[in-house]
Amino acid sequence: MSVVSGFSRTQVGIVGAGPAGLLLGHLLHLNGIDSVIVENRDREYVIDRVRAGVLEQGTVDLMRAMGVGGGLDRRGLRHEGVHISFGGRRHRIDFAELTGGKAITVYGQNEVVRDLIDARIETTRPLYFNAQDVRVSALDSPMPVIRFRHEGVEHDVQCDFIAGCDGFHGVCRPSIPEGLLTIYERTYPFGWLGILAEAAPSSDELVYTHHDRGFALFSMRSPAITRLYLQVPPDESIERWSDEAIWEEMLTRMTTADGWKPNVGRIVQKSVTPMRSFVAAPMRHGRLFLAGDAAHIVPPTGAKGMNLAASDVLVLAHALKAFYETASEEWLECYSTVCLRRVWKAQRFSWWMTTLLHQLPGESRFDRQRQLADLDYLTNSRAAMLSLAEQYVGLPSEVLFTSVGLQPRLPDPSPG
Ligand code: FAD
Ligand code: PHB
Repeated sequence: MSVVSGFSRTQVGIVGAGPAGLLLGHLLHLNGIDSVIVENRDREYVIDRVRAGVLEQGTVDLMRAMGVGGGLDRRGLRHEGVHISFGGRRHRIDFAELTGGKAITVYGQNEVVRDLIDARIETTRPLYFNAQDVRVSALDSPMPVIRFRHEGVEHDVQCDFIAGCDGFHGVCRPSIPEGLLTIYERTYPFGWLGILAEAAPSSDELVYTHHDRGFALFSMRSPAITRLYLQVPPDESIERWSDEAIWEEMLTRMTTADGWKPNVGRIVQKSVTPMRSFVAAPMRHGRLFLAGDAAHIVPPTGAKGMNLAASDVLVLAHALKAFYETASEEWLECYSTVCLRRVWKAQRFSWWMTTLLHQLPGESRFDRQRQLADLDYLTNSRAAMLSLAEQYVGLPSEVLFTSVGLQPRLPDPSPG
Protein backbone atom coordinates (compact mmCIF):
# COMPACT_ATOMS: atom_id res chain seq x y z
CA MET A 1 0.00 0.00 0.00
CA SER A 2 1.36 3.46 -0.76
CA VAL A 3 1.45 6.43 1.58
CA VAL A 4 1.20 10.06 0.52
CA SER A 5 4.38 11.86 1.51
CA GLY A 6 3.07 15.33 0.67
CA PHE A 7 4.75 17.81 -1.56
CA SER A 8 8.30 18.84 -2.24
CA ARG A 9 9.54 21.79 -4.20
CA THR A 10 12.43 22.21 -6.63
CA GLN A 11 13.53 24.60 -9.32
CA VAL A 12 14.03 22.06 -12.11
CA GLY A 13 12.46 18.60 -12.10
CA ILE A 14 14.39 16.23 -14.38
CA VAL A 15 12.76 13.06 -15.73
CA GLY A 16 15.37 10.45 -16.73
CA ALA A 17 18.90 9.69 -15.52
CA GLY A 18 20.53 9.03 -18.88
CA PRO A 19 23.30 11.26 -20.25
CA ALA A 20 20.91 14.20 -20.84
CA GLY A 21 19.32 14.22 -17.37
CA LEU A 22 22.54 13.64 -15.45
CA LEU A 23 24.55 16.22 -17.39
CA LEU A 24 21.78 18.79 -16.95
CA GLY A 25 21.54 18.08 -13.22
CA HIS A 26 25.27 18.65 -12.80
CA LEU A 27 25.35 21.81 -14.93
CA LEU A 28 22.52 23.22 -12.81
CA HIS A 29 24.28 22.19 -9.60
CA LEU A 30 27.45 24.02 -10.70
CA ASN A 31 25.28 27.13 -11.12
CA GLY A 32 23.57 26.78 -7.74
CA ILE A 33 20.22 25.72 -9.27
CA ASP A 34 18.21 22.99 -7.47
CA SER A 35 16.98 19.89 -9.23
CA VAL A 36 15.35 16.54 -8.53
CA ILE A 37 16.14 13.66 -10.91
CA VAL A 38 13.55 10.88 -11.28
CA GLU A 39 14.51 7.64 -13.08
CA ASN A 40 12.23 4.65 -13.52
CA ARG A 41 14.96 1.98 -13.80
CA ASP A 42 17.45 0.82 -11.19
CA ARG A 43 20.99 2.12 -11.03
CA GLU A 44 22.61 -1.07 -12.37
CA TYR A 45 20.29 -1.19 -15.38
CA VAL A 46 21.03 2.44 -16.26
CA ILE A 47 24.80 1.86 -16.01
CA ASP A 48 24.92 -1.55 -17.71
CA ARG A 49 22.86 -0.63 -20.81
CA VAL A 50 25.34 -0.96 -23.71
CA ARG A 51 24.93 1.94 -26.12
CA ALA A 52 27.07 4.83 -27.37
CA GLY A 53 30.84 4.88 -27.51
CA VAL A 54 31.99 7.98 -29.35
CA LEU A 55 32.27 11.41 -27.72
CA GLU A 56 32.75 14.48 -29.86
CA GLN A 57 35.56 16.87 -28.98
CA GLY A 58 32.99 19.33 -27.56
CA THR A 59 31.39 16.69 -25.30
CA VAL A 60 34.83 15.76 -23.95
CA ASP A 61 35.68 19.43 -23.36
CA LEU A 62 32.31 19.95 -21.64
CA MET A 63 32.73 17.02 -19.26
CA ARG A 64 36.24 18.16 -18.40
CA ALA A 65 35.12 21.76 -17.81
CA MET A 66 32.32 20.42 -15.55
CA GLY A 67 34.91 18.56 -13.45
CA VAL A 68 33.57 15.12 -14.45
CA GLY A 69 36.28 14.28 -16.99
CA GLY A 70 38.66 12.32 -14.72
CA GLY A 71 37.50 8.87 -15.86
CA LEU A 72 37.47 9.87 -19.47
CA ASP A 73 40.97 11.33 -19.25
CA ARG A 74 42.22 8.12 -17.62
CA ARG A 75 40.34 5.47 -19.58
CA GLY A 76 39.01 7.19 -22.73
CA LEU A 77 40.74 6.40 -26.01
CA ARG A 78 41.54 9.48 -28.09
CA HIS A 79 41.18 8.80 -31.84
CA GLU A 80 42.58 11.29 -34.31
CA GLY A 81 41.11 9.60 -37.36
CA VAL A 82 38.76 6.97 -38.73
CA HIS A 83 38.90 4.40 -41.55
CA ILE A 84 36.35 4.04 -44.33
CA SER A 85 36.64 0.61 -45.96
CA PHE A 86 35.17 -0.39 -49.32
CA GLY A 87 36.19 -2.63 -52.19
CA GLY A 88 38.47 -4.44 -49.70
CA ARG A 89 40.63 -1.35 -48.92
CA ARG A 90 40.76 0.92 -45.87
CA HIS A 91 41.10 4.67 -46.36
CA ARG A 92 42.04 6.83 -43.38
CA ILE A 93 40.49 10.22 -42.70
CA ASP A 94 42.79 12.27 -40.48
CA PHE A 95 40.58 14.35 -38.16
CA ALA A 96 43.42 16.06 -36.32
CA GLU A 97 45.19 17.22 -39.46
CA LEU A 98 41.96 18.35 -41.16
CA THR A 99 40.36 20.12 -38.19
CA GLY A 100 43.35 21.77 -36.52
CA GLY A 101 43.92 19.15 -33.84
CA LYS A 102 40.40 17.98 -32.98
CA ALA A 103 39.64 14.33 -32.25
CA ILE A 104 36.95 12.05 -30.87
CA THR A 105 37.20 9.98 -27.69
CA VAL A 106 35.96 6.42 -27.39
CA TYR A 107 34.49 6.11 -23.89
CA GLY A 108 31.40 3.97 -23.31
CA GLN A 109 28.10 5.58 -22.41
CA ASN A 110 28.12 3.20 -19.41
CA GLU A 111 31.23 4.91 -18.11
CA VAL A 112 29.85 8.39 -18.80
CA VAL A 113 26.66 7.55 -16.90
CA ARG A 114 28.55 5.88 -14.03
CA ASP A 115 30.82 8.96 -13.62
CA LEU A 116 27.83 11.32 -13.68
CA ILE A 117 25.85 9.26 -11.15
CA ASP A 118 28.88 9.32 -8.81
CA ALA A 119 29.14 13.10 -9.26
CA ARG A 120 25.41 13.53 -8.56
CA ILE A 121 25.58 11.44 -5.41
CA GLU A 122 28.50 13.53 -4.20
CA THR A 123 26.38 16.69 -4.52
CA THR A 124 23.77 15.04 -2.20
CA ARG A 125 21.03 16.45 -4.42
CA PRO A 126 18.05 14.08 -4.93
CA LEU A 127 18.23 11.28 -7.50
CA TYR A 128 15.48 8.63 -7.34
CA PHE A 129 16.06 5.30 -9.09
CA ASN A 130 13.26 2.76 -9.53
CA ALA A 131 10.55 5.45 -9.52
CA GLN A 132 7.22 3.94 -10.52
CA ASP A 133 4.29 5.39 -12.40
CA VAL A 134 6.09 8.64 -13.27
CA ARG A 135 3.71 11.35 -14.59
CA VAL A 136 4.08 15.03 -15.45
CA SER A 137 1.23 17.55 -15.35
CA ALA A 138 0.29 21.27 -15.26
CA LEU A 139 2.90 21.77 -17.98
CA ASP A 140 1.58 25.12 -19.17
CA SER A 141 1.14 26.50 -15.65
CA PRO A 142 3.85 28.36 -13.67
CA MET A 143 4.23 25.28 -11.44
CA PRO A 144 4.37 21.99 -13.32
CA VAL A 145 4.41 18.80 -11.25
CA ILE A 146 6.20 15.43 -11.38
CA ARG A 147 4.36 12.61 -9.58
CA PHE A 148 5.78 9.18 -8.90
CA ARG A 149 5.87 6.36 -6.37
CA HIS A 150 9.13 5.39 -4.72
CA GLU A 151 9.47 2.55 -2.20
CA GLY A 152 5.73 2.66 -1.60
CA VAL A 153 5.62 6.42 -1.02
CA GLU A 154 3.77 8.80 -3.36
CA HIS A 155 5.83 11.85 -4.32
CA ASP A 156 4.53 15.09 -5.71
CA VAL A 157 7.34 17.42 -6.80
CA GLN A 158 6.33 20.97 -7.66
CA CYS A 159 8.79 22.54 -10.08
CA ASP A 160 9.47 25.85 -11.83
CA PHE A 161 10.41 23.85 -14.93
CA ILE A 162 10.50 20.21 -16.03
CA ALA A 163 13.24 18.81 -18.26
CA GLY A 164 12.00 15.79 -20.21
CA CYS A 165 15.23 13.77 -20.49
CA ASP A 166 13.48 10.40 -20.50
CA GLY A 167 14.53 9.07 -23.88
CA PHE A 168 12.49 8.00 -26.89
CA HIS A 169 10.06 5.80 -24.92
CA GLY A 170 9.58 8.20 -21.99
CA VAL A 171 6.42 9.87 -20.66
CA CYS A 172 7.24 13.55 -21.21
CA ARG A 173 6.81 13.86 -24.98
CA PRO A 174 3.48 11.95 -24.96
CA SER A 175 2.25 14.32 -22.20
CA ILE A 176 2.22 17.22 -24.65
CA PRO A 177 -1.35 17.67 -25.91
CA GLU A 178 -2.08 16.13 -29.28
CA GLY A 179 -1.58 18.36 -32.29
CA LEU A 180 1.04 20.67 -30.77
CA LEU A 181 4.10 18.76 -31.96
CA THR A 182 5.18 18.23 -35.53
CA ILE A 183 6.80 14.82 -35.96
CA TYR A 184 9.41 14.21 -38.66
CA GLU A 185 10.28 10.55 -39.03
CA ARG A 186 12.10 8.06 -41.25
CA THR A 187 12.61 4.38 -40.51
CA TYR A 188 15.29 2.41 -42.28
CA PRO A 189 14.84 -1.06 -43.76
CA PHE A 190 17.65 -2.50 -41.60
CA GLY A 191 18.96 -2.64 -38.04
CA TRP A 192 22.32 -3.23 -36.34
CA LEU A 193 23.36 -6.42 -34.62
CA GLY A 194 25.93 -5.28 -32.04
CA ILE A 195 28.36 -7.37 -29.98
CA LEU A 196 30.92 -6.82 -27.26
CA ALA A 197 33.78 -9.33 -27.46
CA GLU A 198 36.72 -10.13 -25.21
CA ALA A 199 39.27 -9.45 -27.93
CA ALA A 200 42.02 -6.83 -28.15
CA PRO A 201 41.11 -4.25 -30.83
CA SER A 202 43.13 -5.02 -33.98
CA SER A 203 42.99 -1.37 -35.13
CA ASP A 204 43.66 1.78 -33.10
CA GLU A 205 40.78 3.54 -34.88
CA LEU A 206 37.20 2.78 -35.94
CA VAL A 207 36.59 1.10 -39.30
CA TYR A 208 33.29 1.78 -41.13
CA THR A 209 32.90 -0.92 -43.82
CA HIS A 210 30.80 -0.84 -46.98
CA HIS A 211 30.42 -4.42 -48.28
CA ASP A 212 28.20 -6.20 -50.82
CA ARG A 213 26.70 -8.27 -47.97
CA GLY A 214 25.94 -5.15 -45.92
CA PHE A 215 27.51 -2.56 -43.62
CA ALA A 216 29.83 -3.49 -40.73
CA LEU A 217 31.51 -1.37 -38.05
CA PHE A 218 34.60 -2.03 -36.00
CA SER A 219 34.83 -0.15 -32.71
CA MET A 220 36.10 -0.81 -29.20
CA ARG A 221 35.60 -0.05 -25.52
CA SER A 222 39.04 -0.66 -24.01
CA PRO A 223 42.42 -2.23 -24.88
CA ALA A 224 40.80 -5.63 -24.16
CA ILE A 225 37.24 -5.22 -25.54
CA THR A 226 36.15 -4.94 -29.16
CA ARG A 227 32.70 -3.59 -30.12
CA LEU A 228 31.37 -4.65 -33.53
CA TYR A 229 28.18 -4.10 -35.51
CA LEU A 230 26.58 -5.77 -38.58
CA GLN A 231 23.76 -4.53 -40.78
CA VAL A 232 20.83 -7.00 -40.47
CA PRO A 233 17.11 -6.92 -41.37
CA PRO A 234 15.21 -4.55 -39.00
CA ASP A 235 13.16 -7.28 -37.31
CA GLU A 236 16.06 -9.75 -37.05
CA SER A 237 15.90 -12.07 -34.06
CA ILE A 238 19.18 -12.29 -32.16
CA GLU A 239 18.40 -15.97 -31.45
CA ARG A 240 18.93 -16.71 -35.14
CA TRP A 241 22.61 -15.78 -34.79
CA SER A 242 25.00 -18.25 -33.16
CA ASP A 243 28.34 -16.80 -32.07
CA GLU A 244 30.03 -18.74 -34.90
CA ALA A 245 27.66 -17.25 -37.48
CA ILE A 246 28.30 -13.74 -36.13
CA TRP A 247 32.08 -14.12 -36.37
CA GLU A 248 31.88 -15.66 -39.85
CA GLU A 249 29.82 -12.72 -41.11
CA MET A 250 31.97 -10.11 -39.33
CA LEU A 251 35.14 -11.56 -40.85
CA THR A 252 33.61 -11.88 -44.32
CA ARG A 253 32.54 -8.25 -44.37
CA MET A 254 35.51 -6.68 -42.59
CA THR A 255 38.65 -8.53 -43.78
CA THR A 256 40.56 -6.30 -46.19
CA ALA A 257 42.90 -7.19 -49.05
CA ASP A 258 45.98 -6.45 -46.90
CA GLY A 259 44.81 -9.11 -44.42
CA TRP A 260 43.46 -6.75 -41.70
CA LYS A 261 40.57 -8.20 -39.73
CA PRO A 262 39.13 -7.97 -36.21
CA ASN A 263 40.51 -10.28 -33.53
CA VAL A 264 38.03 -12.99 -32.53
CA GLY A 265 37.11 -13.55 -28.88
CA ARG A 266 34.33 -14.62 -26.52
CA ILE A 267 31.11 -12.69 -27.18
CA VAL A 268 29.89 -11.23 -23.87
CA GLN A 269 26.87 -9.23 -25.08
CA LYS A 270 24.75 -9.19 -28.24
CA SER A 271 21.60 -7.38 -29.32
CA VAL A 272 19.75 -5.94 -32.34
CA THR A 273 18.81 -2.24 -32.60
CA PRO A 274 16.39 -0.83 -35.18
CA MET A 275 17.38 2.37 -36.99
CA ARG A 276 15.32 5.52 -37.20
CA SER A 277 15.53 9.25 -37.71
CA PHE A 278 12.99 11.18 -35.62
CA VAL A 279 12.44 14.81 -34.62
CA ALA A 280 9.60 16.26 -32.50
CA ALA A 281 9.28 20.03 -32.81
CA PRO A 282 9.14 22.32 -30.96
CA MET A 283 11.22 20.88 -28.13
CA ARG A 284 9.16 22.82 -25.59
CA HIS A 285 5.59 22.98 -24.34
CA GLY A 286 4.91 25.60 -21.65
CA ARG A 287 7.34 24.84 -18.84
CA LEU A 288 8.33 21.38 -20.16
CA PHE A 289 11.59 21.28 -22.14
CA LEU A 290 12.50 18.11 -24.03
CA ALA A 291 16.20 17.19 -24.39
CA GLY A 292 18.14 14.33 -25.99
CA ASP A 293 16.42 11.19 -27.30
CA ALA A 294 13.08 12.39 -25.83
CA ALA A 295 13.01 14.93 -28.68
CA HIS A 296 15.09 13.33 -31.43
CA ILE A 297 16.69 10.07 -32.57
CA VAL A 298 19.41 9.62 -35.16
CA PRO A 299 20.59 6.37 -36.72
CA PRO A 300 23.86 5.53 -34.88
CA THR A 301 26.06 5.60 -38.02
CA GLY A 302 27.15 9.20 -37.34
CA ALA A 303 27.70 8.56 -33.58
CA LYS A 304 25.69 11.68 -32.76
CA GLY A 305 22.88 10.72 -30.31
CA MET A 306 24.58 11.13 -26.95
CA ASN A 307 26.49 14.16 -28.23
CA LEU A 308 23.23 15.85 -29.23
CA ALA A 309 21.85 15.13 -25.76
CA ALA A 310 24.89 16.96 -24.32
CA SER A 311 24.46 19.96 -26.66
CA ASP A 312 20.73 20.26 -25.84
CA VAL A 313 21.31 20.39 -22.10
CA LEU A 314 24.14 22.88 -22.44
CA VAL A 315 21.72 25.25 -24.17
CA LEU A 316 19.00 24.48 -21.60
CA ALA A 317 21.34 25.09 -18.65
CA HIS A 318 22.33 28.41 -20.17
CA ALA A 319 18.67 29.40 -20.65
CA LEU A 320 17.76 28.43 -17.06
CA LYS A 321 20.77 30.23 -15.62
CA ALA A 322 19.81 33.38 -17.54
CA PHE A 323 16.24 33.06 -16.21
CA TYR A 324 17.26 32.67 -12.56
CA GLU A 325 19.88 35.41 -12.70
CA THR A 326 18.06 38.06 -14.73
CA ALA A 327 14.42 36.86 -14.99
CA SER A 328 14.93 36.96 -18.75
CA GLU A 329 12.98 34.34 -20.72
CA GLU A 330 14.71 35.21 -23.97
CA TRP A 331 16.88 32.07 -24.05
CA LEU A 332 14.05 29.83 -22.84
CA GLU A 333 11.97 31.18 -25.74
CA CYS A 334 14.62 30.32 -28.31
CA TYR A 335 15.77 27.01 -26.71
CA SER A 336 13.97 24.87 -29.28
CA THR A 337 15.06 26.92 -32.29
CA VAL A 338 18.71 26.96 -31.20
CA CYS A 339 18.77 23.20 -30.51
CA LEU A 340 16.92 22.24 -33.68
CA ARG A 341 19.45 23.97 -35.92
CA ARG A 342 22.11 21.59 -34.62
CA VAL A 343 19.73 18.63 -34.50
CA TRP A 344 18.85 18.97 -38.18
CA LYS A 345 22.51 19.16 -39.19
CA ALA A 346 23.18 16.01 -37.17
CA GLN A 347 20.12 14.38 -38.75
CA ARG A 348 21.41 15.18 -42.20
CA PHE A 349 24.91 13.91 -41.39
CA SER A 350 23.61 10.68 -39.79
CA TRP A 351 21.25 10.03 -42.72
CA TRP A 352 24.11 10.65 -45.17
CA MET A 353 26.56 8.32 -43.37
CA THR A 354 23.81 5.69 -43.17
CA THR A 355 22.82 5.79 -46.84
CA LEU A 356 26.48 6.01 -47.92
CA LEU A 357 27.51 2.83 -46.12
CA HIS A 358 24.51 0.45 -45.98
CA GLN A 359 23.07 -1.85 -48.61
CA LEU A 360 19.63 -0.49 -49.33
CA PRO A 361 17.16 -3.29 -50.16
CA GLY A 362 15.81 -2.94 -53.69
CA GLU A 363 18.44 -0.40 -54.75
CA SER A 364 19.01 -0.08 -58.48
CA ARG A 365 22.30 -0.51 -60.36
CA PHE A 366 22.34 3.27 -60.69
CA ASP A 367 22.01 3.76 -56.90
CA ARG A 368 24.85 1.34 -56.30
CA GLN A 369 27.25 3.10 -58.67
CA ARG A 370 26.31 6.47 -57.18
CA GLN A 371 27.10 5.11 -53.69
CA LEU A 372 30.51 3.81 -54.84
CA ALA A 373 31.26 7.15 -56.53
CA ASP A 374 30.34 8.93 -53.29
CA LEU A 375 32.82 6.70 -51.38
CA ASP A 376 35.50 7.25 -54.02
CA TYR A 377 35.00 11.02 -53.83
CA LEU A 378 34.96 11.02 -50.02
CA THR A 379 38.26 9.18 -49.74
CA ASN A 380 40.09 11.14 -52.45
CA SER A 381 38.96 14.73 -52.03
CA ARG A 382 40.38 16.83 -49.21
CA ALA A 383 37.20 18.94 -49.24
CA ALA A 384 35.01 15.86 -48.82
CA MET A 385 37.23 14.44 -46.05
CA LEU A 386 37.22 17.78 -44.26
CA SER A 387 33.44 17.89 -44.44
CA LEU A 388 33.16 14.46 -42.82
CA ALA A 389 35.87 15.27 -40.26
CA GLU A 390 34.38 18.55 -39.03
CA GLN A 391 30.95 17.00 -38.62
CA TYR A 392 32.24 13.79 -37.01
CA VAL A 393 34.35 15.57 -34.37
CA GLY A 394 31.38 17.90 -33.83
CA LEU A 395 30.27 21.30 -35.10
CA PRO A 396 30.97 24.27 -32.81
CA SER A 397 28.77 24.64 -29.76
CA GLU A 398 25.79 27.05 -29.83
CA VAL A 399 26.67 28.55 -26.45
CA LEU A 400 30.03 29.29 -24.88
CA PHE A 401 31.05 27.27 -21.82
CA THR A 402 31.55 30.57 -20.01
CA SER A 403 27.81 31.26 -20.38
CA VAL A 404 27.16 28.38 -17.93
CA GLY A 405 29.96 29.50 -15.64
CA LEU A 406 32.54 27.01 -16.93
CA GLN A 407 36.16 27.60 -17.86
CA PRO A 408 37.77 25.31 -20.45
CA ARG A 409 40.12 22.85 -18.68
CA LEU A 410 43.11 20.91 -19.91
CA PRO A 411 43.10 17.11 -19.69
CA ASP A 412 43.95 15.58 -16.34
CA PRO A 413 47.78 15.38 -16.46
CA SER A 414 47.97 12.26 -14.28
CA PRO A 415 46.46 9.33 -16.19
CA GLY A 416 46.63 5.90 -14.59
P1 FAD B 1 18.53 7.83 -22.66
O1 FAD B 1 19.94 7.39 -22.62
O2 FAD B 1 17.54 6.95 -23.34
O3 FAD B 1 18.08 8.10 -21.17
C1 FAD B 1 16.74 8.28 -20.80
C2 FAD B 1 16.54 7.81 -19.38
O4 FAD B 1 15.19 8.04 -19.01
C3 FAD B 1 16.78 6.32 -19.24
O5 FAD B 1 17.65 6.07 -18.15
C4 FAD B 1 15.40 5.73 -19.03
O6 FAD B 1 15.42 4.56 -18.22
C5 FAD B 1 14.70 6.90 -18.35
N1 FAD B 1 13.23 6.87 -18.48
C6 FAD B 1 12.49 6.41 -19.52
N2 FAD B 1 11.17 6.52 -19.25
C7 FAD B 1 11.09 7.07 -18.01
C8 FAD B 1 10.00 7.39 -17.17
N3 FAD B 1 8.74 7.17 -17.56
N4 FAD B 1 10.25 7.93 -15.95
C9 FAD B 1 11.54 8.16 -15.55
N5 FAD B 1 12.61 7.83 -16.31
C10 FAD B 1 12.39 7.30 -17.51
N6 FAD B 1 25.33 8.24 -29.51
C11 FAD B 1 26.54 8.83 -29.63
O7 FAD B 1 26.65 10.05 -29.40
N7 FAD B 1 27.66 8.16 -30.04
C12 FAD B 1 27.61 6.83 -30.33
O8 FAD B 1 28.64 6.24 -30.63
C13 FAD B 1 26.33 6.17 -30.25
N8 FAD B 1 26.21 4.85 -30.52
C14 FAD B 1 25.01 4.23 -30.31
C15 FAD B 1 24.93 2.86 -30.57
C16 FAD B 1 23.73 2.20 -30.37
C17 FAD B 1 23.64 0.74 -30.67
C18 FAD B 1 22.59 2.91 -29.86
C19 FAD B 1 21.28 2.20 -29.61
C20 FAD B 1 22.66 4.26 -29.60
C21 FAD B 1 23.87 4.94 -29.83
N9 FAD B 1 23.99 6.30 -29.59
C22 FAD B 1 25.19 6.94 -29.79
C23 FAD B 1 22.83 7.07 -29.11
C24 FAD B 1 22.83 7.30 -27.59
O9 FAD B 1 22.94 6.08 -26.89
C25 FAD B 1 21.55 8.05 -27.18
O10 FAD B 1 21.33 9.12 -28.05
C26 FAD B 1 21.64 8.55 -25.73
O11 FAD B 1 21.47 7.49 -24.82
C27 FAD B 1 20.59 9.64 -25.45
O12 FAD B 1 20.66 10.02 -24.11
P2 FAD B 1 19.35 10.51 -23.34
O13 FAD B 1 19.78 10.83 -21.96
O14 FAD B 1 18.67 11.53 -24.15
O15 FAD B 1 18.37 9.25 -23.35
C1 PHB C 1 30.25 2.39 -30.74
O1 PHB C 1 31.46 2.28 -30.42
O2 PHB C 1 29.36 1.84 -30.09
C2 PHB C 1 29.88 3.15 -31.94
C3 PHB C 1 30.88 3.78 -32.68
C4 PHB C 1 30.52 4.51 -33.82
C5 PHB C 1 29.19 4.58 -34.19
C6 PHB C 1 28.21 3.97 -33.44
C7 PHB C 1 28.55 3.24 -32.31
O3 PHB C 1 28.86 5.27 -35.30
